[in-house]
Amino acid sequence: MLREVAFEMAASSVRFGAGVTRECGMDLAEWGVRRALVLTDPNVARLPPVRTVLESLDAAGVKATLYDRVRVEPTDESFCEAIRFAESAGPGSDAGPGHDGGRERRGGYDGFVAVGGGSVIDTAKAVNLYTTFPPGEFLDYVNPPIGRGLPVPGPLKPLIAIPTTAGTGSETTGVSIFDLTRMHAKTGIASRRLKPALGLLDPDNTRTMPAQVAASSGLDMLCHAVESFTAMPYTDRPRPERPALRPAYQGSNPISDIWALQALRMVAHYLVRAVDDPADDEARAQMLLAASYAGVGFGNAGVHLPHGMSYPVSGHVKGYRAPGYEVDHPLVPHGFSVVLNAPAVFRFTAEANPDRHLKAAETLGADVSRARREDAGRILADRITWFMKRLNTPNGLRAIGYSSSDIPGLVDGTLPQHRVTKLSPRPAGADDLARMFEDAMQAW
Ligand SMILES: [Fe+2]
Repeated sequence: MLREVAFEMAASSVRFGAGVTRECGMDLAEWGVRRALVLTDPNVARLPPVRTVLESLDAAGVKATLYDRVRVEPTDESFCEAIRFAESAGPGSDAGPGHDGGRERRGGYDGFVAVGGGSVIDTAKAVNLYTTFPPGEFLDYVNPPIGRGLPVPGPLKPLIAIPTTAGTGSETTGVSIFDLTRMHAKTGIASRRLKPALGLLDPDNTRTMPAQVAASSGLDMLCHAVESFTAMPYTDRPRPERPALRPAYQGSNPISDIWALQALRMVAHYLVRAVDDPADDEARAQMLLAASYAGVGFGNAGVHLPHGMSYPVSGHVKGYRAPGYEVDHPLVPHGFSVVLNAPAVFRFTAEANPDRHLKAAETLGADVSRARREDAGRILADRITWFMKRLNTPNGLRAIGYSSSDIPGLVDGTLPQHRVTKLSPRPAGADDLARMFEDAMQAW
């Protein structure tokens, strides 16, 4: 096998500042967008940012339609419902002949705005893709081996992502994650073309975030940064035949390391403060910025086992209902489903690159001055567990309803997640995964 010799930095456009939400109408108008679909979820729909967006579009002369039924932790069904809405409820009927000089497409929207957490932004990416280039089958664009992984044929329409949580970093990435209901497993679509045209990072929008949402999304970000920093180095991956085949998740590399480490420094300073006190403007703003930093890092490097193992943890959810999440279905918040696996994973992976595990622990605030390299996994795991305890996460997988008898199903749900599991710095087979899930049953 020829090994990879190159890495690539794909830029993400973001604008940061209090009040930038008000600018989105002007941005869309500058780009020539005349009709936009604004997507959000039923909870965020009641909060000020959505009203601000609609007023901003109106003031800029951009006609807006609101879709406020995005599902938190979306599924293929909820994606399809949003796609159908965008196709059928579009204002195309009054667009008139020759609308957009022949660029008229299904539904008639020529731009999208996502206002919400990762679920909303990921749904908007899928709606943009599926209405711009409708596939033969829903799974055509979905990551293999679950889907066919067909490339996105061309540029999509402009999408502005306005996060109301600080964690997923979805505004910076070309990834859209959903739960494939019949397999009880999360999977996704990955293409640089899915990346939003612009992320508007407005610290005013995260002020109303419930504490558990702030904790879960902040721990998701922590894991994005640690996983991308400890991922297999890009030089260990096979060299692609053509540049277009080089995946966005290319393994750890010198550019993504910079973003990951800076995000971890910010997490160490501000995560606990931001969760404890939503009125702490400095901490909240820094966490929103850190989420995008981590997003740029993992968007160019990838995540690995904690995310790969999280997909069945959230997909197989039993009756768990998370405080702070007002939804009509049981769910394990994404950040919790990831971080609950993280200590067990890093105890397992540290032997592949102990220095990087120690560096991550140190950046998160651990004292590593007298640490031995063979203790790197335990030290990083202990530091992450400290944050989990301090932020009141469930104490392991058992606390969200799992037991040892569920492990074979959790392992089966992890094995197909090649896009991320193959980036583990230490290869993990079914037996290794089973041991890590057992280890993750209780966190402290
Ligand atoms: Fe994540």
